[in-house]
Amino acid sequence: MRRPVIAGNWKMYKDLNEAVELASGIRKQVQEFDNVDKVIAPPFVNLTEVAKAIADSNVYLAAQNCHWEKEGAFTGEVSARMLKSIGCRYIIIGHSERRQYFGETNETVNLKIKAAVANNLIPIMCVGETLQEREEGRTVDVVKSHVTGGLKGFTEKEIDSLIIAYEPVWAIGTGKTATPKQAQEVHRMIRGLVKELYSETLAKNKRILYGGSVKPENIEELMKQEDIDGGLIGGASLKIDSYVDMVRKTSELYEGK
Ligand code: 13P
Repeated sequence: MRRPVIAGNWKMYKDLNEAVELASGIRKQVQEFDNVDKVIAPPFVNLTEVAKAIADSNVYLAAQNCHWEKEGAFTGEVSARMLKSIGCRYIIIGHSERRQYFGETNETVNLKIKAAVANNLIPIMCVGETLQEREEGRTVDVVKSHVTGGLKGFTEKEIDSLIIAYEPVWAIGTGKTATPKQAQEVHRMIRGLVKELYSETLAKNKRILYGGSVKPENIEELMKQEDIDGGLIGGASLKIDSYVDMVRKTSELYEGK
């Protein structure tokens, strides 16, 4: 069975006090839901304090991005090695906002995954089409190119723990969720592609999260889909109650599985 993941991407929200408060509140209320992997991704500047707030708990820390080099004259950048050293366990890589606003490409995504893997961090690689690409019937092509481009050159062992997050750009922050059926179709296609590129075993074990306007009201329907293994959640992860609610609902769905 694939263990579900509920990952909160805090994007550029929460100052230091707010971040610590949110992390501490989450920590207190999710300990009992031990059949779900709980991940939170605060902005860089708050990672160290949030790491302290969730120390020795079963909530884990993610960064939202990294640079691919170990160190160097790259003003304003942060390396995977540095993130590992402050307690990160995961890194979100290639989020559509980074592709859209900061020029990330499949090539940079590939390099960043390499850096994450080299530092024993679990990459959460984001893929997904824009509205225009969907309307032009190019969803499959775009998602396939994100997956194959991002994973280029990796052995099966290197990407064993890597998580894929399918986030249709048109569903992010818009309140427009992909229907469970729409999401499931793409998730199934991604799993099939992983099988083609690697093996049936890897495909069977690969965790594929859905992201895009996930909230407590729709998480169950999404999580019931065969190939959806969790959520990468923006807005609804910024409040203690709604994050905890999504973890609880996911945990209940997986109980006894
Ligand atoms: P929303 O949940 O706010 O739509 O954001 C999704 C997302 O981009 C998570 O990475």
